[in-house]
Amino acid sequence: MKSHTLSFQFLSEPTDVNFGGSVHGGTVMKWIDQTAYACARNWAENYCVTIYVGGIRFYKSIRIGDIVRVDATIIYTGKTSIHIAVDVFARDIQADAFEKKTHCIIVFVAIDGQGKPVPVPHWEPQTDQQKQMEQYAVKLMDLRRTIEDEMEQYLP
Ligand SMILES: CC(C)(COP(=O)(O)OP(=O)(O)OC[C@H]1O[C@@H](n2cnc3c(N)ncnc32)[C@H](O)[C@@H]1OP(=O)(O)O)[C@@H](O)C(=O)NCCC(=O)NCCS
Repeated sequence: MKSHTLSFQFLSEPTDVNFGGSVHGGTVMKWIDQTAYACARNWAENYCVTIYVGGIRFYKSIRIGDIVRVDATIIYTGKTSIHIAVDVFARDIQADAFEKKTHCIIVFVAIDGQGKPVPVPHWEPQTDQQKQMEQYAVKLMDLRRTIEDEMEQYLP
């Protein structure tokens, strides 16, 4: 049976450093995209591309040498899209508990060989928490429409 969650764990490396000495924001975004892509691709029956990344908030910085954990969870599927919540945690290698550093929502669309969107398997939430996350995804979709109306004049 396919899983609707996927998690990566690894060490942040000296090459991930920013000018302030902690992990570069762009590096964290790459980890988010990679983990969420693996989660979406695992679920879909086709190749997936990122269509939207939203609401990335860096709560606290991640130090070089920390253990990083990136959790990706499908929270909603449309006809061709897969909406994934991503949480990034880190801990000092000698500490027991992970601390949440970043959260965001990322949306993928499954495409065929011609780049055309194709249907994805439906994700049906079972638990109360999964149903709540699905509502969260729906609410964010509504908010995005408002934001996109506002941004329309600057879009291609
Ligand atoms: C992804 C892509 C094929 C979608 O094609 P499109 O014709 O614009 O999309 P459609 O209007 O058919 O919508 C496809 C899905 O995207 C969703 N979508 C459209 N705009 C969206 C937005 N701003 N945010 C979230 N989802 C969005 C639609 O709701 C639809 O999902 P659904 O079928 O589940 O309802 C096209 O936009 C694309 O190729 N984008 C570039 C992708 C890319 O290069 N990503 C970075 C590297 S991976």
